Amino acid sequence: MSDLNRAVDAISRAHLLVVATGAGMSKESGIPTFRDALDGLWASYDPQELATREGFNRDPARVWGWYNLAIARLEDLVPEVVVVTQNIDGFHARAGSTTILELHGNIHRFKCFDHDHPLNGELPPSDVDGPLEPPLCPRCASYVRPDVVWYGEMLPPGVFEQAEALSRSCDVMLVVGTSGIVYPAAGLPMVARAAGATVIEVNVEPSELTPGVDIFLQGTAGEVVPQLVTGTEAARA
Ligand code: APR
Repeated sequence: MSDLNRAVDAISRAHLLVVATGAGMSKESGIPTFRDALDGLWASYDPQELATREGFNRDPARVWGWYNLAIARLEDLVPEVVVVTQNIDGFHARAGSTTILELHGNIHRFKCFDHDHPLNGELPPSDVDGPLEPPLCPRCASYVRPDVVWYGEMLPPGVFEQAEALSRSCDVMLVVGTSGIVYPAAGLPMVARAAGATVIEVNVEPSELTPGVDIFLQGTAGEVVPQLVTGTEAARA
């Protein structure tokens, strides 16, 4: 059996699939650029049909489906899918995944520097290109900052513990596009493997994690993940 088929076999039998993603996932499989999308799943579609008001009117379902990427589609194929991401761009949510743990926060969310008070509502728009005084927290007047994890900071309370528990209880962990260098996130595949899960890695090149995974699939997220989805669809049909 090929490595791809072994991976498809594991995913199609899984009850709980954890998809652990890093920067390589957003690069190719976030909100797709036209090039990514046209090379991959949607190769046969005309961009004019996918990204125009007229195209939407002609076939709303097709256009809406374009924005639901391969990872989100796994939710239809496996009883429980949780995305655990190191990315801060929020792309998984925009792509339609519903259960997401953001280990390193989210660049579209803000909190205050002194007390982590969440900032609700919009920040004033700015077109300043250069240093800009941050707004102040309405509750404590300390500076507002992005709600992301900076180097040397702890992960958001509870989030890593949840990711670790899921890693311990999943059947399959699909690791996509991470170098496996930044801890504690990089430790999750080993937690899953030690607990008996099949760990599948997708990366354009071997990473720090590769020696410890069950199946390494070399290639871009944009090409390999859709192959896994298509294979799993066929296996479950
Ligand atoms: N498809 C799949 N994998 C890819 C692709 C692609 N198209 N392009 C790049 N990669 C792989 C690279 O080979 C590399 O292993 O994605 C990985 C990206 O590694 P990093 O840039 O180190 O990203 P990540 O692992 O997410 O970084 C972890 O470091 O900067 C901090 O907190 C930040 O969350 C980030 C953390």
